[in-house]
Amino acid sequence: MDSNSLSQCIVIFFLLSIWSTLHVHCKSNIFTVSQSKAKTDIKQALLDAWKKACAINGGTIRVAKGNYQLSDVEFLGPCNGKTRFQLNGNLIAPAVPTPNLDHWIMFRDMNQLTIHGRGTLDGNGASYWKTTHSTTISSLKLEHVNKVNIRNIHSINSKKFHFNVHNCNSVTIKNIRATAPADSPNTDGIHIRKSNNIRIIGATIATGDDCISIGDGVTNMNITGVNCGPGHGISIGSLGKYHGEEDVRSIRVTNCNFKNTENGLRIKTFGPSPPGLVSDITFEGNVVNNVGNPIIIDQHYCPESNCGGGGGDSSVAINGVKFIDVRGSSGAATGVKVDCSRSHPCKGIELRGVSLTFNGKPTNAVCSSADVKFLGGNQTPSRCS
Ligand SMILES: *[C@@H]1O[C@H](CO)[C@@H](O)[C@H](O)[C@H]1NC(C)=O
Repeated sequence: MDSNSLSQCIVIFFLLSIWSTLHVHCKSNIFTVSQSKAKTDIKQALLDAWKKACAINGGTIRVAKGNYQLSDVEFLGPCNGKTRFQLNGNLIAPAVPTPNLDHWIMFRDMNQLTIHGRGTLDGNGASYWKTTHSTTISSLKLEHVNKVNIRNIHSINSKKFHFNVHNCNSVTIKNIRATAPADSPNTDGIHIRKSNNIRIIGATIATGDDCISIGDGVTNMNITGVNCGPGHGISIGSLGKYHGEEDVRSIRVTNCNFKNTENGLRIKTFGPSPPGLVSDITFEGNVVNNVGNPIIIDQHYCPESNCGGGGGDSSVAINGVKFIDVRGSSGAATGVKVDCSRSHPCKGIELRGVSLTFNGKPTNAVCSSADVKFLGGNQTPSRCS
């Protein structure tokens, strides 16, 4: 072999080895669970794939197209870098849930997680809704996860909550869908608690309870472009049920649509309650269509008779709430209800550019123990009656 062809050979060998390294490397980042491997419960196949994906930076666990039974699963971190869960298929929960679990699928203790795909999470909740139960089972729960992206996933018929975000930081939820019948109990679309820096963008939520519910300890959260209905609206609270709840601060709900919902924009705190605080809340550019209570602040919330007699005054203070450019049709004559507590009157409630009608006529505003300002003139309603 002359030196020229020797060097050619070396170059070719070199290129081949780069190619094969890349090839193996690319392929080995994705761990696919597919039909052939999972005829019955997919749980162990998912856990095996997770173990491999979590061990490398940039690992992807992929569920291929198809329908799969899944009893329950917990994906535990920390992982060795970014991790991705790509759902192309449909996961189906058993009718009877695993006892003593508050989730069907859980991701816990990790950073940099992406969950995406056109697949569905089918919580199979129909028979569960008819039974009495106390556990809040979420179809997808995130616990102690930071830097999370959830995109496009469609959750249907969750046993209780569809998506539950707890103790997380920096979460973006984009274009998800959550669907359950209007009369299914506690099927909140997205529930968030004790989490910061949250964005919810462009969701479509039609369920039997709150489209989005915001529990204690949530700060800096933006919700925008959400289509809600049927359901109970977007709710801050309920708060004040337990001792030691953390404050809720800096929440913005913008450009959302509500259709045939029980409520639109709501803040609810138990009365009576331990102390707490809700502050710096903005609702702007939201449209309602046949909504029961388009704007409602309720500091005497007591859904069952377990609130110390009920109807007491909440000690969760509400300070600084703006309703800007909220318009459309109310399902009742009262468009604005601000029912605050005598011991902790609401402060800094502002309405600007609000236009709410009932059967084509102006709605009224009912206010108690509240400092409510109607700013800028030309509003419906224009004052508390
Ligand atoms: C929410 O919006 C506000 C105002 O536009 C912005 O300052 C804040 O950083 C946003 N927060 C998140 C988590 O995106």
